[in-house]
Amino acid sequence: MFVVRRNGLHAWRKACPHWANTSMAWRKDAFLNPDGTRIVCSAHGAQFDIATGVCTLGPCIGETLVRVSLIYLGDGSLAVSRNELETST
Ligand code: FES
Repeated sequence: MFVVRRNGLHAWRKACPHWANTSMAWRKDAFLNPDGTRIVCSAHGAQFDIATGVCTLGPCIGETLVRVSLIYLGDGSLAVSRNELETST
């Protein structure tokens, strides 16, 4: 998974809807276009809205990334929902 901080935190599974289980990062921890306004898949260049995960340009237009639910803990840290962990195995 990866998390983007733009007008809040947006967590997504690190898998492109174009081809199942394709890793998306350009390099370690690099998921955004140069101006930081879109998530971009490194394989074929699909671009995704950061807040909704909807593909707006590329080979999977209209498909969406899979959101990961985060839990905000009282000490300022984050955790992944147990349901997310159970459905990803
Ligand atoms: S696998 Fe992501 S755009 Fe093709």
